[in-house]
Amino acid sequence: MMRRIAVIASGRGSNFQAVIDAIQAGTIPACCVGLITDNPEAYAIVRAEKANIPVLVIDYRSFPSRDLYERALLSAMQQLDADLYVLAGYMRILGKGIVQAFSGKMVNIHPALLPSFTGLHAQRQAVEYGVKVAGCTVHFVDEHLDCGPIILQRCVPVLETDDEDSLAERILYEEHIAFPEAIRLFCEDRLTIVGRRVTIRR
Ligand code: GRF
Repeated sequence: MMRRIAVIASGRGSNFQAVIDAIQAGTIPACCVGLITDNPEAYAIVRAEKANIPVLVIDYRSFPSRDLYERALLSAMQQLDADLYVLAGYMRILGKGIVQAFSGKMVNIHPALLPSFTGLHAQRQAVEYGVKVAGCTVHFVDEHLDCGPIILQRCVPVLETDDEDSLAERILYEEHIAFPEAIRLFCEDRLTIVGRRVTIRR
């Protein structure tokens, strides 16, 4: 069955592109019903237009309060009526209302092996901490930041010569594999959340 997926992104959108590519290749049994962005300058918008995906700009700065912004975002998400909401580099923290409204139907990608290095600059945190292995995590979204049940993780070595940028690039390569893969598993109805654990039907 073809699923409806909606993507929410704030910036470059390379993960969004990986999802578009996997849909176009027939790997993910879904159609992308819309891109929502809080940033009118996001390059993700160009990617959506090239793929004929409708774009909704909900410009954070044009709302008088965070609450009104979140209400507009919630109603845009409801309008899209997606089976899955994909946070692909959405750079704000979602309010509780939205998280609860789409519980079990929203995934995020984070450039670290959670639960290590949550929040911003995860790759820099990894380099500075001195870990030898880093990676990315795709997880369901719950009310805590970078915290929900983990679907997939992929790891990379951290080299002695690495800085934030070189490590970020190595991790990003794995993100572009992990994210479409996790979304495919969701769309094929293979994921079950059991407490904090996600089981994958093979
Ligand atoms: C990625 O590193 C992702 O893990 C994080 O934000 C970044 C988005 O990059 N959540 P892009 O916009 O997908 O290129």
